[in-house]
Amino acid sequence: MSERWSLSGKQVLITGATSGIGLAAAQELAARGAHVALVARDPDRGAAAAERIRTAGERLQVSVMHADLSSLASVQALAQEVLDRCERLELLVNNAGAMLSRRELTAEGIERTWATNHLAPHLLTSLLLERLRACAPARIITTASDAHRGRSIPFEDLGAERSYRLGGFARYGETKLANILFTRELARRLEGSGIGAYCFHPGVVASGFNRNNGPLMRALMAALRPFSRSPQEGAQTLVWLAAAQSEELQSGGYYVDCSLREPSAAARSATDAQRLWELSEQQIRQALAPAGAG
Ligand SMILES: NC(=O)c1ccc[n+]([C@@H]2O[C@H](COP(=O)([O-])OP(=O)(O)OC[C@H]3O[C@@H](n4cnc5c(N)ncnc54)[C@H](OP(=O)(O)O)[C@@H]3O)[C@@H](O)[C@H]2O)c1
Repeated sequence: MSERWSLSGKQVLITGATSGIGLAAAQELAARGAHVALVARDPDRGAAAAERIRTAGERLQVSVMHADLSSLASVQALAQEVLDRCERLELLVNNAGAMLSRRELTAEGIERTWATNHLAPHLLTSLLLERLRACAPARIITTASDAHRGRSIPFEDLGAERSYRLGGFARYGETKLANILFTRELARRLEGSGIGAYCFHPGVVASGFNRNNGPLMRALMAALRPFSRSPQEGAQTLVWLAAAQSEELQSGGYYVDCSLREPSAAARSATDAQRLWELSEQQIRQALAPAGAG
């Protein structure tokens, strides 16, 4: 019979924990006894989030690490810091995400939404996999979205040079589709390892999401607020996936409101999941190759 899973004493790493769903989830995971390491790109926001969690109980275990997840070099440095500072890692939560109304390239030459929402989770997970494996049973949870519906991965235009439209919404949906395909392929690769991979849609949540895109988008988000969930409600499925017994969960699954749901047909394609994995590895290798190499 398998050992009962409990969050108590588990080491968690959670990205995007300075606000919204990530902060609410980090608070709840710490309250349930997990040791929570928050990832923040801004040191002040990271310190404020940690302080907010500590005010709920001085014995709550929380620490902060820093990374700009739109930079693969920064993700690489974060992974090294985790390996140096955390002997154990049982739960990785890839939650950080953003939508950008205008197409931008990062210093590494990658479209920024794709780099932040998809390549960062892919690389961070890959670099931490051996530590998770050594600490199994372990879990990887990625925050996806129902915004993936109606989208497909532009395999011939991964940088979205031709397809960036709808004020960044189409691109955002592609990255969330990539989160689901990533989870599916990760689960396949991890079969029998004792590591489960899950993703979920949090609902429409009144968070900091889409407030970076100017006054019009801020006004739209404010108008949606009465119809939106609180960050705590948005974090419920994440916390449930983190706390449930393994037998209740299906690795590779897409969850909504604490239930397994069928994502779109595009998100169920095993061929696309494998193709995306290989292309993502290639993109990461090229971006991180020393200048002049290859
Ligand atoms: N809100 C919704 O309705 C909704 C619906 C479906 C899915 N989601 C998903 O839920 C997740 C969390 O979003 P949220 O709604 O909680 O929004 P949020 O309040 O804006 O939180 C986003 C988090 O991601 C962090 N982040 C963004 N870009 C980053 C970068 N380059 N490097 C490091 N951290 C970065 C933000 O850090 P800063 O504090 O530094 O900005 C913040 O902590 C996202 O993956 C989003 O796609 C949200």
